[in-house]
Amino acid sequence: MITLGIETSCDETALCLLETDGNNYRILANIVHSQMNLHKEYGGVVPMLAKREHIKNLPILYEKILKESNITEEKIDRIAVTQGPGLEPALWTGIVFAKELGKRLNIPVVPVNHMEGHIVSSLILDINKDKSMEDLRKIDFPALAVLISGGHTELVSVEEMGSYKILGSTVDDALGEAFDKTARMMNLPYPGGPEVSKLAEQARKENIPHNIKLPRPMLHSKDLNFSFSGLKTAVLYTLREIGTPTEEQMKDISREFEDAVTEVMISKTRKAMESNSYQTILIGGGVIANSHIRKAFEKLAQEYSMNIYIPLTEVTGDNALMIALAGSIKTTKPSDEGFVAIGNLSLEN
Ligand code: KG4
Ligand code: ZN
Repeated sequence: MITLGIETSCDETALCLLETDGNNYRILANIVHSQMNLHKEYGGVVPMLAKREHIKNLPILYEKILKESNITEEKIDRIAVTQGPGLEPALWTGIVFAKELGKRLNIPVVPVNHMEGHIVSSLILDINKDKSMEDLRKIDFPALAVLISGGHTELVSVEEMGSYKILGSTVDDALGEAFDKTARMMNLPYPGGPEVSKLAEQARKENIPHNIKLPRPMLHSKDLNFSFSGLKTAVLYTLREIGTPTEEQMKDISREFEDAVTEVMISKTRKAMESNSYQTILIGGGVIANSHIRKAFEKLAQEYSMNIYIPLTEVTGDNALMIALAGSIKTTKPSDEGFVAIGNLSLEN
């Protein structure tokens, strides 16, 4: 069974051809075409520009992926496409492309929730040299999903695949967005997450003195919600006070920012873990590429001696492998394995 995954929710045009016999998976080809350089000069993603680029690149990348995988399109059994959440004009390009292709090849189109894709990305244990992936990690339910991306920050209770309850989410900026805005205030290029992370790492390595103090928003609130806009404003005031920050001050701010958000994320995750007897923690979203946050979650896993599944760094960002995988699981796993019915449910409130 071969699934074509299509992801166009933001500024990545991504396609993946994934083969499965129901147990093992093999990536026939996987392409992520980033538009980052185009959006960089605007300091963020411009939806209409993203749309134009997706429309231009989808047919080109489709030809390319067929060539790379050495299969003809008649071999594709179904299409899994991101249906949302994401930038609407961008999403539609993938959906329209998938629908037209599905019609032409007379194969089903499976809608996949982008956040489910991020959840499922944490199940990939390893990608072998021959691009095969054996034994996806098994989830013991109930599981807790921690989703941290450019658009979302959510704690989600997963009763079984396809059955979700949002326990808490950000009341303003998403975590990745807060990283990006903080970077922008320091004139660092888009996307700012990796830039802030680099500076923070240098601050730790060079043992730069801690002169900046930032708040830990909602750390002690009783609920499981997050807020990052106050933190961003605190960075703004700090920078106003400083004037033009030195390299050392930028490193100090970055480390303090990273420490603050890590502390909040871990504390809220801990609180969620204590609210139910979760068997597994699944982490997903672009921000989990951050090595400081990864380490903090790994430490948490050790402390609770439980399974915390953190995606391989190559699949933390937006990609079509996670979409193809979510679509494949949805249509191949029998329900008694608890995997069926990934899909149409929106993780939005
Ligand atoms: O999941 P993703 O690729 O796209 C969305 O679905 O939003 O997440 C992108 C976000 C961006 O805000 C980016 O700055 C952030 O993930 N990000 C990071 C790092 N790498 C990417 N944030 C912090 N540290 C990183 N190393
Ligand atoms: Zn994403």
